[in-house]
Amino acid sequence: MLSRLNALTWLGAALSLSWSIGAHAAGDPALGEKKFYTCFGCHGIENYRNAYPDYSVPKLRHQNASYIVAALQEYRSGERPHATMHAQSASLSDQDMADIAAYLQGPEPVKPGAPTGATVPKQVAACVACHGETGLGIEAPMTPKPAVIAGQHIDYLEQALTSYHNGRRKNVVMGGMSQLLTSPEDVRIAAAYFAGQPSPLTTAKVGGK
Ligand code: HEC
Ligand code: HEC
Repeated sequence: MLSRLNALTWLGAALSLSWSIGAHAAGDPALGEKKFYTCFGCHGIENYRNAYPDYSVPKLRHQNASYIVAALQEYRSGERPHATMHAQSASLSDQDMADIAAYLQGPEPVKPGAPTGATVPKQVAACVACHGETGLGIEAPMTPKPAVIAGQHIDYLEQALTSYHNGRRKNVVMGGMSQLLTSPEDVRIAAAYFAGQPSPLTTAKVGGK
């Protein structure tokens, strides 16, 4: 069983990673919105679903730009397996990704915010080191920033945690962290907690905020 100490070790690893990765290209949000045109077909429709397996397409508006870029690079390289997202990202250049990420995030990454006083279930105790009690993240400069998970679709969060747990989705930090959730019930509790937190995360809308 990993302890809170291990979570801090992981945090240390994530932080030292941030010193070795340089800043990436600045994105143009106006160009990014245009380049997102085909993406609206899934990410622009409220409660749109992936088929086989069935789960909600993730909300992307106001997600952290550096996380969006990292996710698209992982789909492009195949490190993160998903046939549709591989096809979607294969034709994007690094500049396209930076532009799309700048549009989706908006001018600033989401602020961590003050804890809301919600009761943190024990399944989530280690998660707050990086995602915060709010699921909006923490102030520490991690690159890429962990995803905003507050307000994300619960079934997408469950899908993501299950994929880290079984190693289909590879990430050194979350591969370890997901092992703390030892049953589907733990996964559901963690997903429900973060999905239920107040969040600016929304479905992207053409011309929308
Ligand atoms: C046919 C539907 C579809 C289209 C079109 C599509 N996506 Fe996706 N996208 C998905 C699904 C489903 C997932 C979740 C995949 C997974 O489980 O990893 C996803 C995941 C993502 C993620 C990761 C989100 C996260 O929280 O980790 C990003 C970023 C993303 N898509 C960006 C894009 C961009 C940019 C485009 C257009 C170039 C695009 N998508 C087009 C269905 C689609
Ligand atoms: C040491 C820092 C750290 C800790 C602790 C941590 N995470 Fe994460 N989390 C991350 C990072 C970094 C990512 C992005 C990984 C990637 O690119 O796949 C992430 C991604 C995720 C995602 C995927 C989001 C998406 O949009 O696809 C979920 C869900 C998640 N974490 C939930 C949790 C839960 C639940 C816990 C506690 C059991 C936890 N995390 C603990 C750093 C952390």
